[in-house]
Amino acid sequence: MTVEWYPGHMGKAHKEIAELVRSTHVIIEIVDARLPVSSSNHLLHELRRNKPCIKVMNKNDLADPAVTKAWVRTFERENGVRALPLSAKQHRETAQLIKICYSLAPNWGKQPGYPLRAMVVGIPNVGKSTLINTLAGKSVAKVGDRPAITTSHQRIDLRNGIILSDTPGLLWPDMKDQVAAYRLAASGAIGDNAFDYMEVAIFAAEFMMEQYRDLLIARYKLTDLPETGAELLEQVGRRLGCLVSGGLVDMNRASEAFLRELRAGKIGRVSFERSEYDGAD
Ligand code: G4P
Repeated sequence: MTVEWYPGHMGKAHKEIAELVRSTHVIIEIVDARLPVSSSNHLLHELRRNKPCIKVMNKNDLADPAVTKAWVRTFERENGVRALPLSAKQHRETAQLIKICYSLAPNWGKQPGYPLRAMVVGIPNVGKSTLINTLAGKSVAKVGDRPAITTSHQRIDLRNGIILSDTPGLLWPDMKDQVAAYRLAASGAIGDNAFDYMEVAIFAAEFMMEQYRDLLIARYKLTDLPETGAELLEQVGRRLGCLVSGGLVDMNRASEAFLRELRAGKIGRVSFERSEYDGAD
């Protein structure tokens, strides 16, 4: 199966972002802490020029803490980049972001008429609207359950010397890297109609069996793990009551239920990709 998803407005968004970068002091790139490479946009590197960048690793409440720690070290090796794991819904955690903005652009935002201009970029569904709403303390950005709901750029005055530019969601033009596409689908970043639930669920089940076997055993009260992802889904389906008449497991419902649990963190805090620094001090 090929997971493909590329709404038409994306190409235009790249152009808009390149223009916005010019008048921006700090770039706030939001990635998903569970898959910070697959959920980032490779074009941002090129569009960023030498502007300071804060890589917000959002949905940190769902990610594996040890893996996140290793990613922070990896990202901060790049000049001008700060990495900040957080949960966009938590006001206390997002307040740290403001402090880092000022530390990266100390000459801006101190006097009226000279605001610190920050732009928020990130692929759809990564939490841009949620973060902006929390920072602004009110509902200014649309938050929705469909990826790519933010489609035009808007400015938000945070009334603390910072003006935020929200940008349309970005995703790379092609998703030739199918592993990245599967990770995005498993995490919920790609619209549900772009992929086959069962294939993505099997991919996720096999990943979990390899990397987080203890979490699976604990969540589904298993004595041991089966051989294949499909067998695991069948056991999970049975556990969650996804049955059809005759006591057989409805594999479509089992797949949906498994992905729902995984995305909501019910199985535990999980990261889909690891940094080269994993295991280092
Ligand atoms: P976007 O603007 O980048 O497209 O993303 P948006 O803020 O709409 O967030 C997409 C989904 O991610 C929303 O869930 C939102 O609640 C969730 N989310 C954002 N930040 C976090 C976080 O730090 N932790 C967790 N666990 N979830 C986060 P939804 O189910 O699609 O919508 P809703 O029912 O929560 O409103």
